[in-house]
Amino acid sequence: MPTLEEKILRLKKEKDALILSHYYQRPDIQAIADHVCDSFEMARRASLASAKILVICGVRFMAESAKILNPDKIVLLPTADAGCPMADMICPEDILSLRQNHPEAAVVCYINSAASVKAVSDICCTSSSALRIVRALPQRQIIFVPDQNLGAYVANQIPEKEIILFPGFCPIHNDVTVEDVLSARRAHPHAQMLMHPECRPEVLAYADYIGSTSGIIETALASTARTFIIATEKEIADGLRKLAPEKEFFTITNRFLCPDMKKTRLKDIIESLETQKHEINMAPEEITAAAQSLERMVGVR
Ligand code: 13P
Ligand code: SF4
Repeated sequence: MPTLEEKILRLKKEKDALILSHYYQRPDIQAIADHVCDSFEMARRASLASAKILVICGVRFMAESAKILNPDKIVLLPTADAGCPMADMICPEDILSLRQNHPEAAVVCYINSAASVKAVSDICCTSSSALRIVRALPQRQIIFVPDQNLGAYVANQIPEKEIILFPGFCPIHNDVTVEDVLSARRAHPHAQMLMHPECRPEVLAYADYIGSTSGIIETALASTARTFIIATEKEIADGLRKLAPEKEFFTITNRFLCPDMKKTRLKDIIESLETQKHEINMAPEEITAAAQSLERMVGVR
């Protein structure tokens, strides 16, 4: 009897599929993926892919972004209900009304958003590209949606720009409190604090480093420090323990788990590849409208 992993490898070859996994996925999913990425790298890999089928192990906005960047490919999301609550906090009408109030501003849309929201934005960003993108824009006024915490971080780093925020947030990162920080500090007083910019500003004030998922991993691996407190999804600290067993990694709170990212299981990938289940289908007009802002993001160096 072949194992689930062996079945996936066989199906992948047979169907000419590429499997992209986000770092927050379960370890067994990461192990069978062709690439394990943060959300920027996932979009970049998707835009360069030559395989016929892209299997996106992540949440819906990641699969939609892969489809928008590859309209002729089959894009599969193995678990249909893997969503991102932050992406559901904003709709296109919110942006249209912000534009009316700030007609001079450029709209920068975090990739954690629906295609319809990307379609009415000027450019997308991820947590690893937000600073680069806002700096590169000629406009001084920027409407930043939907993550108010990432937007506030950008505003803090680029004071010469006026950042207009929208009140969206990631329920998982936003849940971390200053009390969590202080209690982690008391437990590990010499640890470096590495944080994701989706955390609240008052929490980020304690960070030794702020960056995207891959930025946190790279920083921890390159650092000469021995102990780290990781303020992002628990899978990152778990993964780092395997990558650098000589160092110590602690998650800032044991509540740090994204349930949607944990929905994908090996059996879902098999079913998806066998039956083309949960293919991402979008209207061509929707793809064209959203493509510009995503392609602009991938193009900014
Ligand atoms: P990254 O851009 O760091 O991959 O983050 C994606 C995400 O959903 C964070 O919650
Ligand atoms: Fe969305 Fe937060 Fe989960 Fe990331 S961690 S996918 S922002 S809910």
